[in-house]
Amino acid sequence: MRNLNEDNITEAVIARLADMPDNRLKGIFINLIQHLHAFARETGLTEEEWKKGIDFLTETGHRCTDIRHEFILLSDTLGLSQLVVAQNHQRSSNATEQTVFGPFYIPGAPVLPAHGADIANDAAGEPCFVSTTVKSTTGEPLAGVTIDVWQADAEGYYDVQDPDWSDENMSLRARFVTDESGTLTFRTVKPRHYPVPTDGTVGRMLEAMHRHPMRPAHIHFMAQKDGYDTLITHIFLDGDPYLDSDTVFGVRSTCIGQFSQHPAGTAPDGTGITVPFHTMTCELLLDPANGPNGARLASIG
Ligand code: BEZ
Ligand code: FE
Repeated sequence: MRNLNEDNITEAVIARLADMPDNRLKGIFINLIQHLHAFARETGLTEEEWKKGIDFLTETGHRCTDIRHEFILLSDTLGLSQLVVAQNHQRSSNATEQTVFGPFYIPGAPVLPAHGADIANDAAGEPCFVSTTVKSTTGEPLAGVTIDVWQADAEGYYDVQDPDWSDENMSLRARFVTDESGTLTFRTVKPRHYPVPTDGTVGRMLEAMHRHPMRPAHIHFMAQKDGYDTLITHIFLDGDPYLDSDTVFGVRSTCIGQFSQHPAGTAPDGTGITVPFHTMTCELLLDPANGPNGARLASIG
């Protein structure tokens, strides 16, 4: 087909997909082409703006490494990641909600006992004693749930952001298995709000949008047990000033932990502690795999 114009080019591009055997992939491409073309038309995109956009995406790609995920950050800060999470995890009304995974999870964190571990590994910050109980949405405590935990230090940095980081020296990350009563307890440092990395293209985009880069203080949890829908979530610090303006749109009311401050004395693990400390308690409520999300997946499959 020749002499295509701005009115009939979309149809012509879509017609080229006629031989695609994979209907799902074909549908994705058709929607992508339609929305991309509609975006260019409705915005009246100029050639100069198109080039700037291409340069921005190219530089975003150049920023990515095995441990720096600028494209994920772009998706997160545009709200796309949380949208995809939300539409893919239909949950019972009382289940703890699913939130963005974020770019700082690392597999292979040390497996620690369900009680008494200190995951700080010398990271600075005010001590915080965490107690988490994992239950099914029907209220039954769940033993044997594998829980990954990861968080930033008191300055708002993850261990992997240190240029000298190696996976032999992880801090503020661990893997636990819940005890018979579905509980685990550990010592860490109180999390603090922090900016997402702003030294790349996403930082420039946020500045251009007059947006702050902050995430409210949180601890990440991933809970996995056969027969239950894996839960990837954060527990946020109640009262954090950024709860209502999280730059990646991840805050959910079911994900606010109970943090309290205590004077020096006896810590929850029975040890004496000479500085003020914090406690955080939360429940993680898991949906069975045949719950709303399981049914959704079955209907797609
Ligand atoms: C995080 O909480 O680790 C995170 C999530 C999304 C973007 C950047 C950081
Ligand atoms: Fe985080």
